[in-house]
Amino acid sequence: MKKLGKVSKRTLNVTHTSSYDDVCQEEASDNTSSALLKQTETGERFSRHVSVMLPESIQALSVQPGGTYIDCTLGEGGHTEALIQGSQSSGKVLGLDADSEAIARAHHRFALYKDRVVLVQENFRHLEAVAKEHGFRNVDGVVFDVGINTRQLASGRGFSFREDAPLDMRFDTRQDLTADDVVNRYSEHELAKVLTEYGEEPHARRIAKAMVHARPIRTAAHLGQVVQSAAGYAGGRIHPATRTFQAIRIEVNQELKSLEDALHQAVRLLKPGGRVAVISFHSLEDRIVKQAFNQESRECVCPPSAPVCVCNHTPMVRTVEPRLWRPSPQEVGVNIRSRSARMRVAERLREG
Ligand SMILES: C[S@@+](CC[C@H](N)C(=O)[O-])C[C@H]1O[C@@H](n2cnc3c(N)ncnc32)[C@H](O)[C@@H]1O
Repeated sequence: MKKLGKVSKRTLNVTHTSSYDDVCQEEASDNTSSALLKQTETGERFSRHVSVMLPESIQALSVQPGGTYIDCTLGEGGHTEALIQGSQSSGKVLGLDADSEAIARAHHRFALYKDRVVLVQENFRHLEAVAKEHGFRNVDGVVFDVGINTRQLASGRGFSFREDAPLDMRFDTRQDLTADDVVNRYSEHELAKVLTEYGEEPHARRIAKAMVHARPIRTAAHLGQVVQSAAGYAGGRIHPATRTFQAIRIEVNQELKSLEDALHQAVRLLKPGGRVAVISFHSLEDRIVKQAFNQESRECVCPPSAPVCVCNHTPMVRTVEPRLWRPSPQEVGVNIRSRSARMRVAERLREG
């Protein structure tokens, strides 16, 4: 078994970014955007990105030799590699990703560790079932690094408004619903609701109307143009299509619902003292993490109107301080995409 080196930011540099928004925002605001765009189209630019809050998440999980860990968002494998390294030769890691391409690359990358690493293409909303199927119960730690990886932005699946690619946006191409369905089949009202709820887009109604008017919209680049014309582009920091693309991606992949479901499953899979760390990139995700951890840590989950407690709820976790972890200024300095990252960590209290 090849031994991995000591955990460091240098050795753990991997080829992804977690912050889709920041990539798009940066492209929109960067003075050299046309040169960068060329790199974007080939995927080269994205390949230089690094895992976000990697040392912090490994430290927060208190990774131990011989421990068992689950990486729910394998991506380019940065967190999985750190878990393999930290858990040493007797540790085990389960890596999940909905994207078959991420799984294929991870098989290649971790070929030397196949006796210690299990890789499964699955949505983390099925976390508990997958973990049990592969013998991962009472685990020491679970990590989520949610969102999109940089290769997906250049994958030809229409995640970026820079891409002249079909509107797909599925992490898992086995699922039926695509971005094309959302963009070309949803009613104007449904579209506006998606843009408002998942994009917090202030011009949701105007953009939804323009989208319906412009149908059929078949490519990401075309959608980007339609949104830009409808929203108006005053040369601000973020491209006007950023929020719309985020919203449609969240709808296609049901990202928020999956995260909410998976967090409760992760808590159930932990052994007492085991920890779950969640890195998120926008307030919608962070709110879900905060609420899930609050709920799991409460003595009582009865509605406020209930005169007496009838829930018999017992707290399952405690929050690990600080409540909200942020990337260091040094990390933001070398990786601008980390600036919107936030991490929350909870520790399992008792047997379920
Ligand atoms: C930000 S990347 C993770 C990067 C990884 N931590 C690394 O260091 O390379 C997020 C990954 O999670 C995957 N993903 C997002 N939502 C998912 C879900 N509900 N189930 C499984 N995988 C998901 C995406 O396909 C993507 O590859």
